[in-house]
Amino acid sequence: MTEIRAGEVIIDLPQRQDAALVFIGRIRTPWATSKDCPRQGDRETGPLCRLEIDAPFHAALKDLDRHSHAQVLYWMHHARRDLVLQSPRSDGQATGTFALRSPNRPNPVASSLVTIVSVGADHVLVRGLDCIDGTPLVDLKPERCPQAPRPK
Ligand SMILES: C[S@@+](CC[C@H](N)C(=O)[O-])C[C@H]1O[C@@H](n2cnc3c(N)ncnc32)[C@H](O)[C@@H]1O
Repeated sequence: MTEIRAGEVIIDLPQRQDAALVFIGRIRTPWATSKDCPRQGDRETGPLCRLEIDAPFHAALKDLDRHSHAQVLYWMHHARRDLVLQSPRSDGQATGTFALRSPNRPNPVASSLVTIVSVGADHVLVRGLDCIDGTPLVDLKPERCPQAPRPK
């Protein structure tokens, strides 16, 4: 768990849970720790990352190769969930969690618009991610991105 910085506020989280997620796989990236990751992925020049899809969901990859881009939703499994005011620059200037793209949030869902490089039977290769190797994968959705043609 990360330490609390000046100006930051944590809360007691509600005990009730409203939904259960089913992770559909995991993301393989070059980054072992949070500090190694970029703040945001680059869908043009970022390194190739591999979305490993678990067997029950392989059929759901059908036709994804018709698309050049996708929204990837993933679960920031090392995030803390109790911060409502955060000071990303450690300067005492706190900002509301919902005004930030910080991984630390009540439901640590992250999203990135990625370039699809290839689609296999059990995986997808993409550029544009920013997460630790092994981060759980929540969902994939095709996305139009007309200004960015699919790379050869
Ligand atoms: C600023 S967030 C942006 C995530 C996503 N692109 C978004 O906008 O929702 C990216 C940062 O989260 C941190 N991070 C990456 N993987 C994580 C994980 N599995 N658990 C917690 N933090 C993670 C890293 O510090 C990384 O630079």
